[in-house]
Amino acid sequence: MHRYRSVFKDESKLDISYIPYRLPHRNQELRLLKEFFSFILQFPEKMTQRVLITGDVGTGKTVLSQRFGADITREASKRRINLRYVHVNCREYRGSLFLILHHVVSVFHPNFPKRGYSAEELLAILLQVLDEENAYVILTLDEFESLVNREGSEAVYKLTRMQEIRQNEPKRISLICILRNLRVIEKLDASTRSTLQSNIIRLEKYSKQQLIDILNDRVAIAFKPLTVQEETISLIAELAFTEGGNARFGIELLWRAGKYADAEELETVTPECVRKAVSSIIPTLRKDELKFLGFHEKLFLLGIARIFKESQKAYASIAEAEKAYAIVCEEYNVKPHSHTQLWKYLRSFSNYGIVKTEVSNVNAHGRSTLIYLPNVPAEDLEKELTSLLEKRKKRENL
Ligand SMILES: Nc1ncnc2c1ncn2[C@@H]1O[C@H](COP(=O)(O)OP(=O)(O)OP(=O)(O)O)[C@@H](O)[C@H]1O
Ligand SMILES: [Mg+2]
Repeated sequence: MHRYRSVFKDESKLDISYIPYRLPHRNQELRLLKEFFSFILQFPEKMTQRVLITGDVGTGKTVLSQRFGADITREASKRRINLRYVHVNCREYRGSLFLILHHVVSVFHPNFPKRGYSAEELLAILLQVLDEENAYVILTLDEFESLVNREGSEAVYKLTRMQEIRQNEPKRISLICILRNLRVIEKLDASTRSTLQSNIIRLEKYSKQQLIDILNDRVAIAFKPLTVQEETISLIAELAFTEGGNARFGIELLWRAGKYADAEELETVTPECVRKAVSSIIPTLRKDELKFLGFHEKLFLLGIARIFKESQKAYASIAEAEKAYAIVCEEYNVKPHSHTQLWKYLRSFSNYGIVKTEVSNVNAHGRSTLIYLPNVPAEDLEKELTSLLEKRKKRENL
């Protein structure tokens, strides 16, 4: 009987909602965030805090604040402080302050009615509930743009200043606002802006090496030992890096590549699985583009496709590509073009995005150029090129 095997140990660790225990390359930012909120563990009633987290897509804004939320509430409960971390994605609530506040109130009172209150009233009710339970809230407004775009200054003003009218009462609600682009807050009035701008945490794009570290951490908890090749990780990191240092893209690619490996009952996740995964996310191989390549460009590309189809490698050297091309030329009975000419072809492939090059200096002899297929499965590429070349042959024989 056929036994189902899988490269995965625990797929859920690649889920978008999973909050890893460790966040490689975000330790400093996590520490800074804890620093901003350190008062909460000592005298929570005395003050509140506002922090902005900003950074591009997939730089870890959401996961950083969630990790922080989990850590600080655990710490608070040890000290018998009733602290809640509430993470709201503003876009999910269509940027409506009313819906957002309703959600926060219902954390404390699950069935709280939706009708009959204004946003201001909900805010007052929330403060009252918090007073009654002697509780504190760190409210994270993720995708904050959505709130600002819909409600403008007004809503944010209410949120940031609401506690100032409650003089001499305990402070209850702190805010973390998450946004990709700081330009959005220029829309706010000066005073609201200044209260938000004092504490900013900027998340820089991840480098390729940082992405490798993040991916390796996930591989260790999501995959069975030795099922993901080093070159596979490197290729995924490379692709996630060119996608703007986007860790989400990398993790999704890792998961999909694992799915391809399982579907084909492979023992390991190979670079070809990654290329298949990418082409399933972004439809890339535009057949028309291949049609317009010259005869020798097609032969050269066919050689490259074969290298990757036949080996499990993610990268190949120029010399290997030339060798593969020479073999293809023999097969088609033509004289190979010169080295210089091949470099030109490579440049045009790179412009089309079919083959990419990377300069590596891991080689002991110095730097060398490596090539890789960013998103087309070698198998598809070979098939497509062979069929184009066959057509040409037929035409010539007529
Ligand atoms: N340093 C890290 N360590 C481990 N996983 C990370 C790290 N940074 C990001 N991730 C993972 O990458 C994915 C994207 O991160 P996250 O959702 O936090 O990005 P984001 O900055 O909020 O992006 P967006 O702007 O699209 O909302 C998540 O699955 C997250 O767990
Ligand atoms: Mg996010």
